[in-house]
Amino acid sequence: MDDLERLADEIRRADTAVAFTGAGISAPSGVPTFRGDDGVWEKFDEGQFAYGRFQRDPEGFWSDRVDLQREMFDEEYEPNAAHEALAAMGRDGDLEAILTQNTDGLHGEAADSVREEAASDGDETTVLELHGNSQRVRCTDCGKRRDGDPIFERAADGELPPTCECGGVFKPDVVLFGEQLPGAVIQRARSLARESDVFLAIGSSLVVEPAASLPRLAASAGATVGIVNLESTPCDDIADAVLREDVTGVLPRLRDMAAE
Ligand code: APR
Repeated sequence: MDDLERLADEIRRADTAVAFTGAGISAPSGVPTFRGDDGVWEKFDEGQFAYGRFQRDPEGFWSDRVDLQREMFDEEYEPNAAHEALAAMGRDGDLEAILTQNTDGLHGEAADSVREEAASDGDETTVLELHGNSQRVRCTDCGKRRDGDPIFERAADGELPPTCECGGVFKPDVVLFGEQLPGAVIQRARSLARESDVFLAIGSSLVVEPAASLPRLAASAGATVGIVNLESTPCDDIADAVLREDVTGVLPRLRDMAAE
């Protein structure tokens, strides 16, 4: 039995299988990754997007953020075969939750489209966006969330920083460097990792928290850990299976095998 067959077999037998995803799952959709030669942080200084800067200099932060948003989300991205495979596993009851540090919303879109396809009204897979969603903004005073596009447009037209009708400053609805992840979200992610029988880490360099610790937490609670990533990661040593392949090749195969 090879690593993929073993993982599929474990998923079939698991009560709780959980997937954790990073920028690598969206790379085949054209969304740029953060690290690596073509990574966004080669072109932009990540320090400029820190929470401290947003608080100190919201005008400068927003001006740079408009450029980053253009670089990252200028095109309309579509979910790829890997998002679709995970969404189908969720719909078929093989996957309890998808934890993602991506902010592109593609897991939600894939879940919507597989649900429509099968007109399924079964249990919904939890999609937990640990770092928020780049397509939204949130008012730092009243907390109201809004579609981001019109607000980014206002900022691009010179409203720096853009503000809510209550007068509060908008912030992209994402977790910035130096900002705490919401406590409830991180607790939920940790308990899902602890409860999981199978924990798949997909398309993440596993260097930024909580990505770095969730696979270890799952492994120490007894889960079978599988890693799908083009490059090696600091968690490869604790994984039961490491598949150094493209996500769009591996995940549809894993889905088919787990459904057999
Ligand atoms: N198939 C499999 N793996 C891939 C593919 C692919 N098609 N394309 C890229 N990868 C891998 C790369 O080898 C890399 O190790 O995906 C990984 C992406 O790593 P990062 O760019 O570091 O992304 P991620 O781990 O999600 O970054 C974490 O850092 O700056 C932040 O907040 C940002 O959420 C992000 C966090």
